[in-house]
Amino acid sequence: MTDHHDDVSRETLPPALEAEPAVAAVLFGDTIIRARRFAAALAEQGEERGLIGPLELPRLWTRHILNSVIMAPLLRPGRVGDIGTGAGLPGLVLAIARPDVQFVLIEPMERRVAWLNEQVGELGLENVEVVRARAEEAKAFGGLDQVTARAVSALRTLIPLTAPLARKGGELVLMKGINAEAEISAAEKQIRRFKLHDVRVEILGDGVLEETTRVVRATVDRDERATGGVSRETFG
Ligand SMILES: C[S@@+](CC[C@H](N)C(=O)[O-])C[C@H]1O[C@@H](n2cnc3c(N)ncnc32)[C@H](O)[C@@H]1O
Repeated sequence: MTDHHDDVSRETLPPALEAEPAVAAVLFGDTIIRARRFAAALAEQGEERGLIGPLELPRLWTRHILNSVIMAPLLRPGRVGDIGTGAGLPGLVLAIARPDVQFVLIEPMERRVAWLNEQVGELGLENVEVVRARAEEAKAFGGLDQVTARAVSALRTLIPLTAPLARKGGELVLMKGINAEAEISAAEKQIRRFKLHDVRVEILGDGVLEETTRVVRATVDRDERATGGVSRETFG
């Protein structure tokens, strides 16, 4: 027989946090303790602070944290920028996994910036600078070796936001969904205008994660004219 009160309480319980998948400890190595602390803080405060949706808790590790850390081996020691970090994805997760890399997290929303700064302090991360700005206004933090972004915008609008922040010879490593190839085709003009080379899609996590992820990688060979507001007619 069904107990009505049990049914009601089950319906009103918040969704449970996903148990940590075993592969998390493999991917984070000895940085897993910090990753667990970050996951717990995000699970506890994320919805209330408008960082993640209410449905994300049952997939917080798989869909968000592992999906971010899977990029960690693509980063080289140097300065890496993450544009539109939001709750910390992928930038803060990568900073946890790669203490040998310096990160600049660029995010315009005040409450997200407050969250990121708090987490940097709580986790004792010494390799992170949080900048409150839109990417278009963050040129002073440019000259980056690599630039990442996840779920910010389609490639044709994301390239003009990210490429100007990379140094000449630097790299874009942009997380993309299943339509990555189509986004590259749609961004043909921007790829030319910002002098991107070796533009390619890589699939990450095959055989490791339940859900693979895609990144668009490209080398930036820009010159100053291409980022100085020169009209589309010149380059497009
Ligand atoms: C959909 S959220 C994604 C957040 C996070 N990267 C993730 O994967 O969960 C997009 C984020 O990009 C930020 N954003 C939007 N336009 C931006 C811009 N021009 N420069 C930098 N960040 C931007 C927003 O404030 C927001 O935090």
